Amino acid sequence: MPKADPVSRFVQHTHPFTPYDEKPPFDAHGFVGRIPHDDILPQLVGDAFRHRVGVKPLDLANWFVRDDEWQPTIDMKQRLLAKRRNEVVSFRDDAHDVAHEAAELVLGWLGRTPTANGVDALVEAAGAVPDDLTVLRSVPTDDGERLPFVAGVVCSPSRWRLAEKIGLDMLAVHKPVALYAEHIGAAVDTTLTRLSPDKPIWRSNWTLEDHPALFQPYSPDGPMVEEPSELWIRIERETLRRLPRTRGILFTIRGFQEPLSSYVQRGPEAVRTLRDLVARLPDSLARYKSVYDYRDFVLGWLDSLLVART
Ligand code: HEM
Repeated sequence: MPKADPVSRFVQHTHPFTPYDEKPPFDAHGFVGRIPHDDILPQLVGDAFRHRVGVKPLDLANWFVRDDEWQPTIDMKQRLLAKRRNEVVSFRDDAHDVAHEAAELVLGWLGRTPTANGVDALVEAAGAVPDDLTVLRSVPTDDGERLPFVAGVVCSPSRWRLAEKIGLDMLAVHKPVALYAEHIGAAVDTTLTRLSPDKPIWRSNWTLEDHPALFQPYSPDGPMVEEPSELWIRIERETLRRLPRTRGILFTIRGFQEPLSSYVQRGPEAVRTLRDLVARLPDSLARYKSVYDYRDFVLGWLDSLLVART
């Protein structure tokens, strides 16, 4: 009898646009994900691990990036919105004005205006770009503002559940992230409260996963692969914009998955950087990133690639 626990529902496959618990369509065979943007690849900074806010100015001409995965990602989102809406849309009742303004900005970038209102407009906007859309509301306080997460349309969650995050401030949203509070909790809050409408920013994140699904709200309950070359590198490109009218914040997330075996073909510099990044992760963070169980054999494999090339 199948277990009720959702983590047991992982289906082994190699297609990023098929959810973690579904079988890929027959024509997905042979598709290989590739991260199409070099500027979002992980970099080594300093000589020891530290979370970094790492934001850079965003050129709005490249707010959303058109690439080979643009349409397949939108198609995946449309399917999820049609069939699994409860898992990919969540909001609080006070989110409609800020969600609507966020939708106007996104659809405006595409030369369109919303045909729906409030959170429905946010859903419409999220269906038109490959990026996930999340919205924070600005709530004035005696000494500044709070920025709770009030609405999201998230089709590429990396092992977190949208509904569990709604209503939370940044520190609480990031509670499962080891060392977040110590390293960057205050700096993220400052970055967000100082964000102004005319200075949008972006950043990126990386992790290794043993399943390729972009829609992957859970972690599997045990290792899914037997060889390091079967792992995937997952990178997220994130942008942040302050909304001029409601003063809310729109945070966008675009996820990419690439087989590690393809990633390392970028050459020894990319292999060495990844090797050092994985080696430097404190155990607590390696556990959070689900790298812990794989760490020794990933490092051994990356080392062997470097030796083979010298
Ligand atoms: C400058 C701003 C931000 C920084 C520096 C930041 C940093 C991070 C980091 C380091 C992680 C861990 C990722 C990993 O190691 O794999 C993370 C996860 C996450 N972030 Fe952020 N973040 C920022 C803004 C936001 C915003 C505005 C949201 C709004 C929804 C958000 C939602 C999340 C969520 C949901 C996770 C996953 C948490 C979990 O595993 O339960 N982040 N973030």
